[in-house]
Amino acid sequence: MKVGFCYNLKKPADESTPADLYAEWDDEETIGAVHSALARKHEVIPIEGDEDAFENFRKYRPDIVFNMAEGMHGTSRESQIPAMLEMLRIPYTGSDPLTLAVCLDKAAAKVALSYYRVPTAPFVVVLDPRVKTRFPPFPLIVKPLREGSSRGIQNRSLVRNARQLKEEIHRVLTQYRQPALVEKFLPGREFTVALLGNGNAVEVLPIVEIRFEELPDHINPIYSYEAKWIWDTVEKPLEIFTCPAKISASLKKKIQSVCRAAYTALGVRDWCRIDVRLDEAGEPHILELNPLPGILPNPDANSCFPKAARTAGMSYDELVNRVLDTACRRVGLKP
Ligand SMILES: Nc1ncnc2c1ncn2[C@@H]1O[C@H](COP(=O)(O)OP(=O)(O)O)[C@@H](O)[C@H]1O
Ligand SMILES: [Mg+2]
Repeated sequence: MKVGFCYNLKKPADESTPADLYAEWDDEETIGAVHSALARKHEVIPIEGDEDAFENFRKYRPDIVFNMAEGMHGTSRESQIPAMLEMLRIPYTGSDPLTLAVCLDKAAAKVALSYYRVPTAPFVVVLDPRVKTRFPPFPLIVKPLREGSSRGIQNRSLVRNARQLKEEIHRVLTQYRQPALVEKFLPGREFTVALLGNGNAVEVLPIVEIRFEELPDHINPIYSYEAKWIWDTVEKPLEIFTCPAKISASLKKKIQSVCRAAYTALGVRDWCRIDVRLDEAGEPHILELNPLPGILPNPDANSCFPKAARTAGMSYDELVNRVLDTACRRVGLKP
């Protein structure tokens, strides 16, 4: 098959760009690894997910596109490549523009989850700090409404009083130029769950637990930007993940079931990584869905989807091809 491969390559950051500007984009190592995995079985046409993408799709007309482009501009940036492909009637891996846009907007995703009674923490969205708002009780977590890869979530994002809350809302509104999502802080254990497939054939891979005891002392138990990208490095990886998570059979069942419900509620296709946290009573709640999950190839880079796949006995190349084959089956293409 002629497989298009669409991505955004990280640009070198200079002093004028915020350190986390390209946190969502992929580096050469990841793009190379996905390319070579696809090339084991297919002819691969790499296409950068930029302004020229539409013309390139039109010129090369791949049979299907493996999409991992995150986009840069606009509130629906992750939907732009899938929207182009729909216009051209070229099938692609992963979720459609609507699901990608809704999952990128964490509040929109939580509204959909709440409608389907999938547990998620109470929240409010702040667009203007001057408007009087009733917040859930402290402690709270303040995050940018539409980011990923822990962009904007720092140790200080967990707030315990009105002064800290005000500061963090101000930081999100000014630094990230978007509304602030203020959410009840869920104090329990945290997990991230990789799912693959469609319809009745959705498979939940082994659950990953994020263990905050591994973080430096006096640090809040959240998977912040510092934890993801600064304290945990390839040179000195933190032993922050356990996979499979050491949990009881009943908790495992509950987590799998809320994740499947969230996957269905948001209309996710092919694959997704879902973040889950327990409340004070030990009940799992959905934090967010990542329908374009990160897949760093180096096991020391602590990337959770490939880690869960490895635990399930699936190599990196097998994982990439499984996603492609799942999409092919969904659209009726012979993989
Ligand atoms: N309501 C919450 N309660 C407890 N921790 C939270 C909550 N929301 C976010 N966090 C912490 O912040 C981290 C990043 O938040 P998340 O919503 O997953 O954003 P991102 O898209 O950046 O991954 C989570 O992995 C978790 O550790
Ligand atoms: Mg997350």
